[in-house]
Amino acid sequence: MKENTYSPGLEGVIAAETKISFLDTEQEEIVIRGYNLLELIRKASFADVVGLLLDEKLPDAARKAELEKAMVSSPVPSAVYEILQKLPASMHAMDRLRTAVSALAAFDPEANSVDPNSEHVRAPRIIGQVSQIVANLTHIAQGRKPEDFSPKYSYAENFLRVIVRRDVLPAEVRAFEQSLIAYSEHELPNSTFAARVVASTLADAYGALTSAVASLKGPLHGGANEAVMYMLLEAKDVPGLEKLMRDKLAKKERIMGFGHRVYMRRMDPRAALLKEVLHELIRARSKGQIYADMCQKGEDIMRTEKGLYPNLDYYAAPVYYLLDIPIELYTPIFFAARSSGLMAHIIEQHRENRLYRPRVLYRGHRGLRL
Ligand SMILES: CC(C)(COP(=O)(O)OP(=O)(O)OC[C@H]1O[C@@H](n2cnc3c(N)ncnc32)[C@H](O)[C@@H]1OP(=O)(O)O)[C@@H](O)C(=O)NCCC(=O)NCCS
Repeated sequence: MKENTYSPGLEGVIAAETKISFLDTEQEEIVIRGYNLLELIRKASFADVVGLLLDEKLPDAARKAELEKAMVSSPVPSAVYEILQKLPASMHAMDRLRTAVSALAAFDPEANSVDPNSEHVRAPRIIGQVSQIVANLTHIAQGRKPEDFSPKYSYAENFLRVIVRRDVLPAEVRAFEQSLIAYSEHELPNSTFAARVVASTLADAYGALTSAVASLKGPLHGGANEAVMYMLLEAKDVPGLEKLMRDKLAKKERIMGFGHRVYMRRMDPRAALLKEVLHELIRARSKGQIYADMCQKGEDIMRTEKGLYPNLDYYAAPVYYLLDIPIELYTPIFFAARSSGLMAHIIEQHRENRLYRPRVLYRGHRGLRL
């Protein structure tokens, strides 16, 4: 390793060896354990992807049933919900989630174990518990009782039902599940890096996950999906969006949902797929065309004006809106889905650990005296 190489924001730096995933920008493929993520979004279930991430191969029927069971039949300890009930509703949903993920550790007898085998066994349960916390976050903040997932429904159906508390169409469940798969894993974004950095001290999975929630909250990362929806709602219609975006661009403001450190001048393949999902959902629900029209206009403006393309958050936002999901849950849902990829990374880090400890390019003073 050359001394003194510095890349602001670690751009282009290879910071981990992994067998989990890879963004191949040349072939325009997101590789997840050898499979193309787009194919998984089109054809697989979320449990398939959890199995693939954790077991390094797609699950057979028995393993899939076992994973579904662990994810839907592992209730959240009531004390964690009680902690959430005590938090002010004004606290950001990601901060409430961060507190709850940290608190989960208190009720896991193996919480401090960094044995990858123990983490592998506990991962589906943790994913299920995190998902139930997310599904209940807004209900608790608004004074309603939390609901557990039920073995009657699949993981994705449970997740959506508990959030919206109404009957859901199969097309809605599928759109939601496809968004979860799209969010499940994406190589080494800031939150996954944060989790691996924490795990590399041999700190436990809950600590690593908690750091990832903190990272994901930021609007330059996961927080972009809710920001996109607020922008669409503020704009109201296509001419409104055009005016809003042009005003923002004139003021050199960033437009959320566009650009990506790795894809930057190309379309995020997941965004293109979620755009299809949005169109299918609009057909199934016979409403929402205005959001597809606004998103298309925004896409055209950004391509022409800035040469920038949408990322996944841009199209996930209207999908969630059409599913009647509260906007404050968009980023927590991203985290619940990503907890699958994060657990795979934490396990991999603990299995082949080397402490992260980079150096700095010192620009401060020297030789000062007291
Ligand atoms: C994702 C993101 C942080 C990547 O940033 P990055 O790799 O550090 O790239 P930079 O911030 O250096 O941006 C490079 C250039 O593109 C511009 N740019 C990048 N994203 C932009 C956006 N969303 N809106 C307007 N301009 C943008 C920057 O202003 C900069 O222009 P300049 O060279 O004229 O100063 C950035 O694209 C962004 O802020 N996007 C909006 C937030 C978002 O959607 N996040 C979710 C990511 S999945």
